[in-house]
Amino acid sequence: MNHFEVRGGELHCESVPLSRIADEVGTPVYVYSRATFERHYTVFRDALVQAGVVAPLVAYAVKANSNVSVLRILGDLGAGADTVSEGEIRRALAAGIPGERIVFSGVGKTRSEIAFALKAGVSEINVESEPELKLVAAVAEELQLRAPIVFRVNPDVAAGGHAKIATGKAENKFGVSFAEAARLYVNASNHPHLNPLGVACHIGSQITDLAPFEAAFRKMRGLAESLRAEGLTVERLDLGGGLGVPYFNQPDPPAPAAYAAMVAKVVEGLPDIRLAFEPGRVIAANAGVLLASVIHLHERPEGRKFLVLDAAMNDLIRPAMYDSFHDIRPVRETDADPVPLDVVGPVCETGDTFTRERLLPPMGPGDRVAFMSAGAYGAAMASEYNSRPLVPEVLVDGDRFAIIRKRPTYEEMLADEVPGEWR
Ligand code: LLP
Repeated sequence: MNHFEVRGGELHCESVPLSRIADEVGTPVYVYSRATFERHYTVFRDALVQAGVVAPLVAYAVKANSNVSVLRILGDLGAGADTVSEGEIRRALAAGIPGERIVFSGVGKTRSEIAFALKAGVSEINVESEPELKLVAAVAEELQLRAPIVFRVNPDVAAGGHAKIATGKAENKFGVSFAEAARLYVNASNHPHLNPLGVACHIGSQITDLAPFEAAFRKMRGLAESLRAEGLTVERLDLGGGLGVPYFNQPDPPAPAAYAAMVAKVVEGLPDIRLAFEPGRVIAANAGVLLASVIHLHERPEGRKFLVLDAAMNDLIRPAMYDSFHDIRPVRETDADPVPLDVVGPVCETGDTFTRERLLPPMGPGDRVAFMSAGAYGAAMASEYNSRPLVPEVLVDGDRFAIIRKRPTYEEMLADEVPGEWR
């Protein structure tokens, strides 16, 4: 459930008409619903607790939507943060999320990022390879600390809405094999500057079926048990993120309650284990829309109609990158019969096409549309391609709204570019 709905013929975010935001802030602009973020986080966490999972660490995947105001909403509800760079750790800390709720993931953490994470007192560094283990050990020794580590294991399970977002197969770059995990765990346990806490997995994103999760989680439980059987301490099981959301061309994903019940069943009877989760999309996607205006309707002689918007692939790259489907809704409802429209942006690439032959009411200059389910991997993946200033973000709370990332001016966009000294 989300808080974007039509009232009086006009699409609203909570109690604010989207047209008001478009008038006052301009377009393109991302618009987020605070109540929806809160609801999605709460539903996910409560489902786990109700299924019997004790004190889960729900570490929201910052990459999905990393605006500090969004992180603060979730952090205030008790969420942790799953991070993949020093920048994301800094964002989480800036939002008031304490180090003990921060997970540091990623296949290529640098020496200085590891040092930063250790000094910030992160809850776990998810180690993805043997060279990385050595680097973490070396940095921890330099700092005279004991690094809390968790081994990210690649469970070799296929899952995910698109090949570019599947991560859990052996051919992907993520994590160590089960055999490596067992060997490295022993090494780490004997190292004075490493504190191995457990194992982690993350098999992919936009997963709409419980079966691959269950297969992977069963393997993870088996690994935890076999490590324990060797006398090793395993107190944490990080089960990653990946739960999908409804997109209109895909099967409906399982509800958080079904996911939680499956998790509880898999870990039943495994004593003294703390579970961690890294959900991103399921919390953020339907909490945001990208609001855009029509520049014009361009009708080619052979009959194809192009609705040219002021939003482009640099603002929302998902359709170009993953062929993803975003529902496009006119901000003002009309009774006009829908016509097939190709919805495109102004960027000079054919790939800057949001959709082809989508049935939409006829629209003209100044009309507004909203791309639904754009709260995750939308603004976070935006760029300045074609020298278009980064898209701003607005947060709605009931009947008020605030700009939580402003639209840069052209001067600001150019300010960091300096001529070389030799010029
Ligand atoms: N944990 C790790 C280690 C991850 O790599 C990811 C996502 C997550 C958690 C969160 O997954 P989620 O719950 O959001 O599915 N840009 C793509 C999605 C890439 C996901 C990458 N990793 C998209 O727009 O669909």
